[in-house]
Amino acid sequence: QELQINLEQIEKGGYDHFMLKEIYEQPNVITDTYRGRLHANEGLIKMAGIEDNLQKFLNAPRILIIACGTSWHAGLVAEYIFEEFARIPVEVEYASEFRYRNPIINENDVVIAISQSGETADTLAAIKLAKEHGAFVFGVCNVVGSSISRETHAGAYTHAGPEIGVASTKAFTTQITVLTLIALRLAQAKGTLSNSMFHRYLQELELIPEKVSEALETNDVAKAIADIYKDAPNCLYLGRGYNFPVALEGALKLKEISYIHAEGYPAAEMKHGPIALIDEQMPVVIIAPRQEHYDKIVSNIQEIKSRSGKIIAIVTRGDVQVKELADHVIEIPETTDALSPLITTIPLQLLSYHIAVMRGCNVDQPRNLAKSVTVE
Ligand code: G6P
Repeated sequence: QELQINLEQIEKGGYDHFMLKEIYEQPNVITDTYRGRLHANEGLIKMAGIEDNLQKFLNAPRILIIACGTSWHAGLVAEYIFEEFARIPVEVEYASEFRYRNPIINENDVVIAISQSGETADTLAAIKLAKEHGAFVFGVCNVVGSSISRETHAGAYTHAGPEIGVASTKAFTTQITVLTLIALRLAQAKGTLSNSMFHRYLQELELIPEKVSEALETNDVAKAIADIYKDAPNCLYLGRGYNFPVALEGALKLKEISYIHAEGYPAAEMKHGPIALIDEQMPVVIIAPRQEHYDKIVSNIQEIKSRSGKIIAIVTRGDVQVKELADHVIEIPETTDALSPLITTIPLQLLSYHIAVMRGCNVDQPRNLAKSVTVE
């Protein structure tokens, strides 16, 4: 028993929980996921699974992304990125819905299946269905040699290393990393991004691990905010554009490990329902980096404020406007819009982690949840 406890402590590398260790591993595992693939100085992205199947991607009338849980959120981020960079229509589906609704799949469609474990039953079944219809299926998995990595025609691994915490953290950011690399490679091949933009993105990608490290420095601020809101029964997460899926993921993290009811919404949808929930009891986490539609987010924040909601805003360092309105701000380093989910996600992971710890929850193994769901 004692030996077991000591072994686990060693595995946690000095952190109280696997989840926290995995949150802090993100700068390194994103770098690992770039290794051999991102060559910013030469202006190259090299991924064997993509090069070998480049024509299939270029000929695809659309890309279908299938996944579950946090991986599905990474798929949503990828939808925005693929469409913006490579101008290929993308649909993102829950694997469980896709497999049971007689979906339209054409021979030239490319299906991307995203799965940390590579063992999720619904995703596996959806892949089999897509293959039966003649689609080319590309896997983005973390676990090497997993069922999904074997069942797909080709793929690219995330190099997150073992993820033990049930709530996914580093798998999510490395999935976005791989999918961004793919989108950029396709954009280059299709000529849908100008040369200078393509190079700018590559340079910016290289800076991401350092910026993630800087975002991790928000830990103390996140912890202080957690202490104020740890007893809240509900929490709303809002974001726009690339950060709408991040709002969903932030809410999922909170509900998974702290059992606080949380909802993620596109900020502009607030007026179609969630705004009715806002009163002085309601914390609203709003992802508001200085980027496109910043002024729209500012007006969303004003709407919350005028209804006495408590505003926790994720802002770009040096922000002035949101700071004036929000009850609390968490400042993160600046990056381009499309890459911002890799940064904005970090304080949300930390916030839910600290809230769960303060509530005495089993952070690494939350009730009723499994790390990989191998039954439907
Ligand atoms: C479970 C896990 C989640 C994960 C989801 C999909 O619900 O608790 O963290 O996002 O399965 O898993 P996958 O391994 O396919 O990414």
